[in-house]
Amino acid sequence: MDAFVINGGNTLGGSIEINGSKNACLPLMAAALLGDQPITLHHVPRLADISNMLNLLERLGCSIDEHDSGDGRSITLYAEDESLSLAPYDIVRTMRASICVLGPMLAKRGEARVSMPGGCAIGDRPIDLHLRGLRALGAKITLDGGDVVARVPASGRLRGNTVFLGGAFGPTVLGTANVMSAATLAHGTTVIEAAACEPEVVDVARLLNSMGARIEGAGTPRITVHGVESLGGAEHRVIPDRIEAGTYVLAAAITGSRLRLTNYPADALIAAQDQFERMGVCVRAADGPDADPLRRTVDAWREAAVRPTTVSTQPHPGFPTDLQAQLMALACLADGNSVITERIYEQRFLHVAELSRMGASLFRQGSTVVVSGVEQLVGAPVMASDLRASASLVLAGLAAEGETVIRRVYHLDRGYEQMEQKLRTLGAKIERVDERDLAPVPG
Ligand code: EPZ
Repeated sequence: MDAFVINGGNTLGGSIEINGSKNACLPLMAAALLGDQPITLHHVPRLADISNMLNLLERLGCSIDEHDSGDGRSITLYAEDESLSLAPYDIVRTMRASICVLGPMLAKRGEARVSMPGGCAIGDRPIDLHLRGLRALGAKITLDGGDVVARVPASGRLRGNTVFLGGAFGPTVLGTANVMSAATLAHGTTVIEAAACEPEVVDVARLLNSMGARIEGAGTPRITVHGVESLGGAEHRVIPDRIEAGTYVLAAAITGSRLRLTNYPADALIAAQDQFERMGVCVRAADGPDADPLRRTVDAWREAAVRPTTVSTQPHPGFPTDLQAQLMALACLADGNSVITERIYEQRFLHVAELSRMGASLFRQGSTVVVSGVEQLVGAPVMASDLRASASLVLAGLAAEGETVIRRVYHLDRGYEQMEQKLRTLGAKIERVDERDLAPVPG
């Protein structure tokens, strides 16, 4: 396993490009199962989760062609063999997002067997809403040997219906993508009420519409899908990763640096931008007024001391849970007390104990953490435990005095492409090493 060794405390500078979005890419790739022709995705990030998804699609009969088209990595996917319908446990356990093949495979092949995703470090992550939505479209769903087995009704096709997809923690992102994708090939019209409004859902709808689907309202809580007989192929450029973008803004802020970010999805980061401003972090356009609001060039820097904040994570357009840990790292250095509440995954606080090892002053009660700002974080050996918690430790390490060693960075590799290389081009002192080459942790 790899680790990062960071020598913190120095200022960064320069420019980096934001990658295509991992969380958009996964359901976009699954959409290949719906079409009769190949789909090509541009700007696909090189990440462990994307490799897992490619592996899964291959097991489901898709041919894969990867090439460099001058627009980042491009991947062409074509569902050549439709006789297969099993998403096995050995892949699903490495990546919960495998569940997003369920809807497309069911709608197109009439049957899908997807291993039920198990526990997750950031809390319970049930799939009941996915199943409720597909059942409403007429699917017969059973559980067999740990697999979800779904079949279309005797008519051979799903049928449109009105379905409410809200849950105790709000709408579901991948559940909305699953039901919306399945509904494209259903007989009749489907209305998804309490749909997730996340930009990734909008991106999936955009691809499906260019394949011939008739989806309206994506990005709002009510999505209408008029079923069609078949879908064709399409070419699509994946939206930039708003979470990667927000993480690099926070890297500029926590190190007191000025960074230029290109391919920056400003329009998908409005709640985050509001938090950045409150904390004294500026993000300003460096391009013209006609630039694509999802692909801007911006400069990010911090003007003065970090100001404390109060924030609750919420479904989009609220502040994203996937930036909570990274924002907390910045709040650790604020001039006062911040209050951070997690409303999507109440247990998503694996970074709290590790940040405390670096000198942060944190008090957690239930789903809220009170962060009392300190003057300085100090380097320490810490453990990455999930993707975004790991990113928050990298940010803390960049700002800390001395050496921070972050073990188990494979979590980070799931969602940040070559993070250490990007940070090194900005002047950070960060190395990837084999954990076996590190001195043993005392005790
Ligand atoms: C997506 O997960 C993202 N993953 C997550 O990003 C992100 O944290 C999450 O959306 C919320 O924004 C991908 O897109 C691959 P949900 P998803 O269904 O769709 C509950 C990251 O760090 N729920 O919107 O699986 C659930 O437990 C990852 O990149 C149900 O109760 O999340 C949670 O409390 C982690 N029943 C809330 O809804 C269900 O059937 C939202 O989850 C489904 C979800």
